[in-house]
Amino acid sequence: MNFTSFATAPLARRLEGKVALITGGASGIGASTAKLFAKYGAKVVIADNQDDLGGSVCKEVEDIKYVHCDVTQENDVKYAVDTTMSNYGKLDIMFNNAGVLGGRNAYQILTSDIKDFKKVFDVNVYGVLLGSKHAARVMIPARKGSIIFSSSAASVTAGETSHSYTASKHAIVGLAKNLCAELGQYGIRVNCISPYGVATSMYTNFIGLDQTEAEGILSEAANLKGLVLKAEDIAEAAVFLGSDESRYISGINLVIDGGYSTTSPALKMAMKAYFNDS
Ligand SMILES: NC(=O)c1ccc[n+]([C@@H]2O[C@H](COP(=O)([O-])OP(=O)(O)OC[C@H]3O[C@@H](n4cnc5c(N)ncnc54)[C@H](O)[C@@H]3O)[C@@H](O)[C@H]2O)c1
Repeated sequence: MNFTSFATAPLARRLEGKVALITGGASGIGASTAKLFAKYGAKVVIADNQDDLGGSVCKEVEDIKYVHCDVTQENDVKYAVDTTMSNYGKLDIMFNNAGVLGGRNAYQILTSDIKDFKKVFDVNVYGVLLGSKHAARVMIPARKGSIIFSSSAASVTAGETSHSYTASKHAIVGLAKNLCAELGQYGIRVNCISPYGVATSMYTNFIGLDQTEAEGILSEAANLKGLVLKAEDIAEAAVFLGSDESRYISGINLVIDGGYSTTSPALKMAMKAYFNDS
């Protein structure tokens, strides 16, 4: 009996021939994604405002180039897209991944201020809007493309990150859906990836612990046991959403949290404490 295979490319070259631009690609999830995209055959440009870190990612992998870009500056974002186009002639995947956490004052409404709110929204929302705008500028004539946002499990849970960060990650899920509605007519897909906590520098710097300690805390709180969520797991989801394997998927928020957001352990924990159960 012969089985029909729907795979369009061997698994090892899932992004063969694709060109990707990744903001926030100098570190953490963006850097892991850049390396995985290149491994699967894509040409990758990373855009970030940490030039030294960006340069060192490029040194590791030949098919990754770096461009300086502050995602809150329209000229920088335009330049990143134009540089990708002039080097490779097209843009297939735009991963709007750069992001910042809110400050500690933004965890409580009475100490929240406009400075924090503006900074977080400038990078996490306006930066994503600019990345989408300039990606769409070159994807519309090509009548294809995949735009991906780094949202967060904070888009489906509440009370664990600052008000500004939580609001910003909700905002871009809405933006992705609106763009999905506008850009579908041009064959462009727009999706979000929403990870649970990953011990990247964003997270370890904020809580002031090293990677192992931070992963210990995250794993303790996780619903899915026996695994630690890594930046590479998020990169695998970005590969899927960037590749033709997901060619009819648009407008989704792909939550990568091992079921964390569907559970609320609070009652179980309170009962355990009350009955002194182990
Ligand atoms: N680490 C987590 O637990 C987690 C969970 C959910 C979502 N996310 C999201 O994933 C994305 C990547 O975060 P990460 O964990 O890899 O953190 P990270 O700090 O390692 O990476 C973020 C990158 O964004 C870049 N960046 C920040 N502001 C920028 C700007 N104005 N212009 C250009 N680049 C800028 C930084 O230089 C850095 O390289 C973020 O959007 C974050 O909100 C992270």
